[in-house]
Amino acid sequence: MRHLIDFGDMTREEWDELYRRCSDILDRPEAYLDACKGKVSASLFYEPSTRTNFSFQTAMLRLGGSVFGFADPKSSSVAKGETLKDTIKMVSGYADVIVMRTPWEGAAKAASLYSDVPVVNAGDGGHMHPTQTMADLTTITRLRGGVDGLSVGLCGDLKNGRTVHSFIKAMEKFRDVKFFLISPRELAVPEYMRAFMRERGMWFTEVTGLEPVIPQLDVLYMTRIQKERFIDPLEYERNKGIYILTRRKLERAKDKLLVMHPLPRVDEISVDVDDDPRAVYFKQARFGMFARMALLADLANQPRREPEPVEIGRGRVCRNPRCITATEGYLPPLVKRIGEADCCAFCDAPLG
Ligand code: NCD
Repeated sequence: MRHLIDFGDMTREEWDELYRRCSDILDRPEAYLDACKGKVSASLFYEPSTRTNFSFQTAMLRLGGSVFGFADPKSSSVAKGETLKDTIKMVSGYADVIVMRTPWEGAAKAASLYSDVPVVNAGDGGHMHPTQTMADLTTITRLRGGVDGLSVGLCGDLKNGRTVHSFIKAMEKFRDVKFFLISPRELAVPEYMRAFMRERGMWFTEVTGLEPVIPQLDVLYMTRIQKERFIDPLEYERNKGIYILTRRKLERAKDKLLVMHPLPRVDEISVDVDDDPRAVYFKQARFGMFARMALLADLANQPRREPEPVEIGRGRVCRNPRCITATEGYLPPLVKRIGEADCCAFCDAPLG
């Protein structure tokens, strides 16, 4: 694996290998103190973050490497109108690995076309967030021994929640996972995700009620309604506070349920759930740091390599207004097939 843009970039074998390394780091952190000695990671955060940014930074520091970057694009040349391509060309000259978060879908993929060093997608708009999925899989595997055969409820904003999309993508690598997709109809998973699950023969059902399905679940993955992604503020007002997990609602849940959340939480998990032993979201955030250590130990040590030249785009192909191709006009018109449809290779939105 050269870059981590989408969980699909990783084979099952590569994930197993990463998980083995992550587990080893958890058990013997002292053996990795110099794993990234002399290496430098760039963290380009064009959007707010606490966990992801801090956990990537602490991951690099714990491996003996160092970190530079920005957490607010207003303090970088982006504010002067610099293109993403130029920022990446320049930063990839200074760093050994680039970790980036943006509000634009497909931006990490775009960056990977121009970077001499590995690029890690730390969240691209409402699209994908593969390293959160690494945290999620590590949590489930460490606490339950494995992922195969589990019934997983994903609840909340499944339309805009990038952690959900990455999680579903990863699940094709496991056997007999059942998905209960719990959301209001207007916040259901995007069609490209549905097409992906159908194409892979994955078992899923879409429901609007949380309580009726709770007793069947092994994992309940709660998510925040993603306020910043709503174009229509009324749509947000209609949906905020729609699912609130309480201690009472957990009474009928399995004893071995894992209640997970990528965090930050707003009100979707009531504070009285925190002391229930099934609530593992703070552990999940800590596991995320170890998963990122395993990833950085691999990527930051890869040799620099100039990317192949890419064709310059002549006019837009993708109509998704949040796609990186909407703002960076030089990007090539890359297309990929999902199910029966031609889709934008940056943001996955169907073309045409
Ligand atoms: C998530 C994100 O940024 O997508 N947070 C995180 O990375 N842990 C979830 C969210 O913001 O709701």
